[in-house]
Amino acid sequence: MKISLVAESRAGETRVGLTPDAVKSLIKEGWTVEVERGAGARSHFSDDAYREAGATITESPDGEVTVRVNPPTLEEVARVPEGSLHLSFLSPLLALDVVRALVERRVTVVSFDLLPRISRAQYMDALSSQATVSGYRSALEAAHQLDRFFPLLTTAAGTIRPAKVLVMGVGVAGLQAIATAKRLGARVRAYDVRSAAKEEAESAGATFVDLGVTADAAGGYARELTEEEKARQQAALVDEVAAADVIITTAAVPGRRAPILLTSAMVEAMADGSLIVDMAADGGGNCELTVAGEVVTHHGVSVVGLANPPAAMGRHASTMYANNVVKLLALYGHGEVAPDWADEVVAGTTLTSGGRVHHRPTAEALGVEAVPVAVPTPTETADAEESK
Ligand code: NAI
Repeated sequence: MKISLVAESRAGETRVGLTPDAVKSLIKEGWTVEVERGAGARSHFSDDAYREAGATITESPDGEVTVRVNPPTLEEVARVPEGSLHLSFLSPLLALDVVRALVERRVTVVSFDLLPRISRAQYMDALSSQATVSGYRSALEAAHQLDRFFPLLTTAAGTIRPAKVLVMGVGVAGLQAIATAKRLGARVRAYDVRSAAKEEAESAGATFVDLGVTADAAGGYARELTEEEKARQQAALVDEVAAADVIITTAAVPGRRAPILLTSAMVEAMADGSLIVDMAADGGGNCELTVAGEVVTHHGVSVVGLANPPAAMGRHASTMYANNVVKLLALYGHGEVAPDWADEVVAGTTLTSGGRVHHRPTAEALGVEAVPVAVPTPTETADAEESK
């Protein structure tokens, strides 16, 4: 069967779903691979490099499997072959029209953002790989935008105090932001609502800020805070925020708008010249003032709304994403689509197939019944026969 690598159409995107090395691995696995002309150009993977890896170059991809990074637009869905397998970051709750159109075409949609966060799935975890890029970028962006040094400097021209960086949200991106700011010499404090975050933040080199508000939820994620908890959190954060030179925010709750951690009043309490880098800008932002893709200045504080941060490092973001794709596709078959539907990772990551929706929150949002992926095991089938 043929895998098609489709070019990204999202404005500002530089990433591509497969690298030439990934193409080589897939061909070794028994697939045929075609690449849409120019798909890798913005991450500096040329058509020739894909050709050398064994792919063909096409103007109109039509494989049994399509790979991309972002979801297709409604217009592009019409070009996704009926009954094919599609792999991307679909963010289904933000793209319900697209999901509906793919269901109508009986496409098997595999969405990286549904991947179970379990040890076995780590090699396929594009959420983590892209968050790693985003966290690194957010710290560099902060260092770049700030008109001060990050490290302590003792020079003949005076002693410079290290920058005080506060990282809010210590998931994969937050940990990378801590590590990067730390490597640049900043004094880093960090805050999160998950109880496991303290140890993780400390191991990356930050001092953890404990506010006594915890919100652990299933799957290792955070839940949304209640109104009372939000008020308590914001009150407790006022002094921390006011003392920071730089705040990097990465807080997210799956399937929901990013929580507001920084109100305008809190920003106004920060010193003139301080900086907020909001990595959650695409999800609505962690700061009330954030505008995705823009730098807003309020009372002398700059609020940077980072839009699609991994796209700022297309080359390595694509390399990591492509490695995740190769590992995940191996669960869906070797040279042809033949997944083990009972596999926990396959069952968790498959959003739709054969005209059915498997992911419960998406099915609810679409007003249709959620149908589990897993096929009945032989024992279950025998039991059902017996009980007839
Ligand atoms: P995420 O992108 O969903 O959220 C980022 C961070 O924001 C999280 O740490 C979350 O607790 C925090 N947050 C949410 N609401 C907040 C609030 N109101 N105030 C402060 N912080 C808030 O998280 P990500 O990076 O996707 O990681 C989620 C979990 O999955 C983590 O526990 C991570 O360690 C775990 N994980 C496990 C993996 C595995 O075992 N294979 C792989 C990657 C992550």
